[in-house]
Amino acid sequence: MEQQVYSMPRIGDKAPEFKAITTQGEINFPADYKGSWVILFSHPADFTPVCTSEFMTFASMEKQFNEANTKLIGLSVDGLYSHIAWLRTIKEKIEYKGMKNVEVTFPLIEDITMEVAQKYGMMMPGESNTKAVRAVFVIDPQGVIRTIIYYPLSLGRNFDELYRVILALQTADEFKIATPADWRPGDDVIISPAGNCGTAKDRMDGKEEGLDCKDWFFCTKKIDKDTVLNKIIKK
Ligand code: BEZ
Repeated sequence: MEQQVYSMPRIGDKAPEFKAITTQGEINFPADYKGSWVILFSHPADFTPVCTSEFMTFASMEKQFNEANTKLIGLSVDGLYSHIAWLRTIKEKIEYKGMKNVEVTFPLIEDITMEVAQKYGMMMPGESNTKAVRAVFVIDPQGVIRTIIYYPLSLGRNFDELYRVILALQTADEFKIATPADWRPGDDVIISPAGNCGTAKDRMDGKEEGLDCKDWFFCTKKIDKDTVLNKIIKK
């Protein structure tokens, strides 16, 4: 049988649709998630140590992500019963970095056929033919892919960074700004570069209030932490 070849989705593309069996029942993506941000992430295999540390960390932060209107969906090319057994083991037996009794309540997709993994470009044959790499897709409430991050099998993800990505994307949308290197809520944000010579001159002459211009193309402004968090976090 001829193997179907999928191209990898890109930032700005509509997230590929799929229906899947998960540890929380069937999901129809992205239709079931309309109105929410989603982090769809793959992991190489159940019952492996790096993945276990990642799931415990992500599950411990799930409430924090949910409060930022963000739902989590995991995936590996293992079967449903393996997923269930692994998540039970995590809850019943694994203690790691002060986390214990951790219940993973977000859905974990079974993808034995690799259909979803192929659609999202989660298989990287140079790394493994049988396991998905650690891919992360951040998808917005309109079902558009907004961020893609890949890690190899040996490297556990930084979940504080994934939370920062969610806050930064939502802040950029809400306030129509961009966020500079290492931005965190409360740090200055970047406004669009001057689009004409008059605006460039006005900014350099200090005529636009509230801006701190390093040069005509690089101006920042303050948005305090509470203003950002009050817009994004819903407890
Ligand atoms: C792990 O999660 O520990 C792992 C999975 C696949 C390859 C290497 C490490």
